[in-house]
Amino acid sequence: MKRQTFIVLAAGEGKRMKSKYSKVVQKIMGKPMILYLIDEIEKNFEDSEIVVVVGNKKEDVRKVLEGRNVKFAYQEKQLGTAHAVMCAIDMVSKQAEDVFVLYGDAPFIKADTLKRISEKRKKENASLCLLTAIFENPYGYGRIISDENGNVLKIVEEKDATDEQKQIKEINPGFYCFARDALKDVLAKIDNNNSQHEYYLTDSIEILNKEGKKVVKIACDDNFEVMGINSRYELFLAEQELKIRINKKHLAEGVQMIDMYSVYIHPDVQIGKDTVIYPGTFILGNTTIGEECVIGPNSYIVNSKIGNKCYVWFSVIEDSEIKDNVKVGPYAHLRPNSFLEEGVKIGNFVEVKNSKVGRNTKSAHLTYIGDADIGENVNLGCGTIFVNYDGYKKHRTVVEDNAFIGCNSNLIAPVKIGKNAYIAAGSTITDDVPADALAIARERQTIKEGWVLRRKQMYEGNNNK
Ligand code: UD1
Ligand code: CA
Repeated sequence: MKRQTFIVLAAGEGKRMKSKYSKVVQKIMGKPMILYLIDEIEKNFEDSEIVVVVGNKKEDVRKVLEGRNVKFAYQEKQLGTAHAVMCAIDMVSKQAEDVFVLYGDAPFIKADTLKRISEKRKKENASLCLLTAIFENPYGYGRIISDENGNVLKIVEEKDATDEQKQIKEINPGFYCFARDALKDVLAKIDNNNSQHEYYLTDSIEILNKEGKKVVKIACDDNFEVMGINSRYELFLAEQELKIRINKKHLAEGVQMIDMYSVYIHPDVQIGKDTVIYPGTFILGNTTIGEECVIGPNSYIVNSKIGNKCYVWFSVIEDSEIKDNVKVGPYAHLRPNSFLEEGVKIGNFVEVKNSKVGRNTKSAHLTYIGDADIGENVNLGCGTIFVNYDGYKKHRTVVEDNAFIGCNSNLIAPVKIGKNAYIAAGSTITDDVPADALAIARERQTIKEGWVLRRKQMYEGNNNK
């Protein structure tokens, strides 16, 4: 049995965003706007169902909600918010006590606030409870018109408001909890006699009142929760505010930030205490960072797992995992599927891709490690290149424990370097090297005694005559 239904309106055009994509899939801190809402509902309301009304750019919305337990209602023409709800009403479960109507462009509402709205509706036995907020700059929002006792009479949209009504700072942020039958009845009675010729959901308040049905309101206590996002500027404001809130949460949990204004951390990231984050750092997606790490400055970490006591300086890490006490950077790049065991060092201008690197292995400078399985305590000299691509296919290289790869070597995959083996600097290795061997694969040095003098004589000898 579904006790609550959430109707989420997401069919609008989002004109003010000036985008090819639906407004509700615009990302805030990397996450499509509508997912904040859907996640909050899914996490906090067990017996609930979600109906998303789509229309404009509906494929964008369906795509970000793929795999989610939501139903879609279709609104072919965007005739207004009441019309959008009408398109969804027949999908609402018969048992639903509460029907919430929410807008997909107001992503930050908290479940506790939604629960307070529903509790108030039930306690007062009202047909509708709506949330209200006080905005110093109420421009663009529907204004709450109340009687002298503070009872809500109706909502007037910005475009239909008189100058006097425009002075009202109590606004409609667009969160409603209806009794199911009352909603169904009232929708049929809403017309489009207004400046925009739209069917306004907000007209339901006046109609219910006129019919003697009870409408109550409840004040929201954090305006951030009800912020609506219609333009790029509002998207920016939302992102800035969310960034500060996320960073403050990490500070409260023992993470240190040198400048929290210049650090971008996505909402699902976890960071252990006594980790220090330097400016200009982005920690994105599904990333976990352990305790006592030093991250940044100017690092970019996405969908990765970092152990304890790691250093990541001026570096990029994507879809990778590093264990404890690993040092990365400055200026290193771990591309997807890199796995670094404890104590590994990946230094200046080293790139790693789809490779495993064993404990305490070091690659301090100017190296490409691609498609490799490297053992423990290996030393990769400066300028080592794992030559993994033959123009058609990628091949793997194996380097076993304690091997020493001299500077400026090419390891041409597929190839295997055995345990403890040495590769002489400047070698191009095409064949497997057995354990404990030294491989030299370069031209032997020759010395031509007196060559410089003979050459000098050849060119300058005559001139001196
Ligand atoms: C609406 C409210 C306004 C409130 C404000 C809060 C109405 C008439 N007005 O105005 O009182 O202060 O939100 O942010 O409800 N949508 C559809 N189909 C439509 C029209 C809209 O699905 O036919 C969706 C949009 O995609 C959007 C949401 O409904 O997610 C709100 O629509 P929008 O046009 O942004 O309404 P506002 O003008 O902001
Ligand atoms: Ca809006």
